[in-house]
Amino acid sequence: MTDDKSSGSNAMWGGRFASGPDAIMEAINASIDFDKRLARQDIEGSRAHAAMLAATGIISTADAEAIRAGLETILAEIESGRFQFSTGLEDIHMNVEARLRELIGDAAGRLHTARSRNDQVATDFRLWVRDQTDAAIAGIEAVQRALLEQAEAGADWVMPGFTHLQVAQPVTWGHHMMAYVEMLGRDAGRFCDARARMNECPLGAAALAGTSFPIDREMTARALGFDRPAANSLDAVSDRDFALEFLAAAAITAMHLSRLSEELVIWSSAQFRFVTLSDRFSTGSSIMPQKKNPDAAELIRAKIGRILGALVALFTVMKGLPLAYSKDMQEDKEQVFDAADTLLLSLAAMEGMVRDMTANREALEAAAAAGFSTATDLADWLVRRLGLPFRDAHHVTGALVRMAEERGVDLADLSLADMQTVHPDITEEVFSVLGVRNSVESRTSYGGTAPSRVREQIARWRERLG
Ligand code: ARG
Repeated sequence: MTDDKSSGSNAMWGGRFASGPDAIMEAINASIDFDKRLARQDIEGSRAHAAMLAATGIISTADAEAIRAGLETILAEIESGRFQFSTGLEDIHMNVEARLRELIGDAAGRLHTARSRNDQVATDFRLWVRDQTDAAIAGIEAVQRALLEQAEAGADWVMPGFTHLQVAQPVTWGHHMMAYVEMLGRDAGRFCDARARMNECPLGAAALAGTSFPIDREMTARALGFDRPAANSLDAVSDRDFALEFLAAAAITAMHLSRLSEELVIWSSAQFRFVTLSDRFSTGSSIMPQKKNPDAAELIRAKIGRILGALVALFTVMKGLPLAYSKDMQEDKEQVFDAADTLLLSLAAMEGMVRDMTANREALEAAAAAGFSTATDLADWLVRRLGLPFRDAHHVTGALVRMAEERGVDLADLSLADMQTVHPDITEEVFSVLGVRNSVESRTSYGGTAPSRVREQIARWRERLG
C-alpha cells in the first residue's frame, strides 16, 4: 500500500524519483510518530476543504461525498486505535490520504486539489494549538477557583509577609492567595490574546503562492471556526507565531506555578507548618517512615524547565528561516506537544494540591508576630501622632527594635518607660499599633492587605470566575 511498486519511491510525491529513500532518510524525515496527534484536526481540515471544493464546483458533489464518508471512517479507525500508521508515508497528512485512497479509490486523489501539505499542516497545527489554548485557560481558571476558596476561608487570617524571605510586615492569608489569582488572571489573559491573533485560517495558501482554482477561503475559514482567512499566503504557511505565543504564555504560567510551588514546599516544612498538604498530593520516603514529601509541588516547580526549553527550541528553529515553508518547521510539533501536556498536567496537579491543602491558622498567626513585623506600623505611628519626619521615625523605630532584640522580646513587650528612653513623647497609645491584627486592618489602601480590601478582591474574582 505504501510504496509505488514500479519505482520503489513515495506514492504521493515519487513521480520524479527513481528510487525510494534510504532508511536513514526515512527516519529523519518521518513525523508520523508524533504528528498522529493532529489526526482529528487533519480530518476536520480535509472535510472543510472537500466541502468547499464541491461548493465552488472544483470537484463533483459525488466525489466530495465519497471523501466525506471516507474521512469519517478514517476518524473512527484512528479513534478506536485500529488505524495502521506507516512511517513510509511520512506524516499524518499522507497517512490519511493513502488510507482514503484505499477506502474510496480515485476520488481521494482530488482532495489535494488547490491545497499543499504546507497550508494543511499550518491549519492542523493552529487548530490543535487553539484547542490547547482553550484547555490552558480552563486549567488556569480551575486553579484560580481553588485559590479563591482558600482566600475566602482565610480572608482575615494573619500571616507574615516576606521580602527577601525575611519577615517584612503582617499580611492576610486571603491577600497572599489572591496575589496568585491576579498572576494567573494575567496568564489566562495572555492565552486569550494569543487565541484571538492565531484565529486566522492558513488553508488555501496552498504551497506558498495561493492557487489558480476559484477556492472560497472565507468558507473554509468559517467551517473551521476561524475569524477570517490569513491575508498573505506566504506568511500563512511560514508563520509559527501562534505556537511561539502559546509557548511564551505557557512559560510565564509555568513560572508562576513554580513560584507558588516553591512557597508550598517551604510552607509545608516542619519549620514553617503554614500549610498541610493532603495525603492525596504527597508522597512518602522509602527509608524514612515519618516523611511526607511535597513531590507534586517540587515537580511543578521544575516543569518550567521543559516548557521554557520548548520555547527556546522553537525560537531557535524559526530564527533565520527564509520564506516560505522549510522542513525545519516540522520540529515545531514535539516541543509544543510536550509543553502543552506538561502545562495541563501541572495546572491539574496545582489545582488538586491547592484545593486539598489545609492552612494552619495558628501557625500563620504565631509566625506573623515574630521578627518585629509591626516595626513599620510603629514608625508610621510616630509620623502620625508625633509629627516626626518618616526618616526620623525610621531611626527611632530602629533603636527600639535593637533594644527589643537585645532583650530577646517583641516590640510589644517593651515597657512605655523603656520606649520613652528612645523618644520621650511616645505614649501608651503606641501599643495599639503593635498588634498584627491592627496592623493588617489598618492597611486599607486600594489593593492592600486589610481584610475589607481582600474581600473586595475576592468578590470581584468570584464574579468573574463564577
Ligand atoms: N510533516 C510536515 C511538517 O510537519 C508537513 C509539511 C510538509 N511539507 C512539505 N513541503 N514537505 O512540517
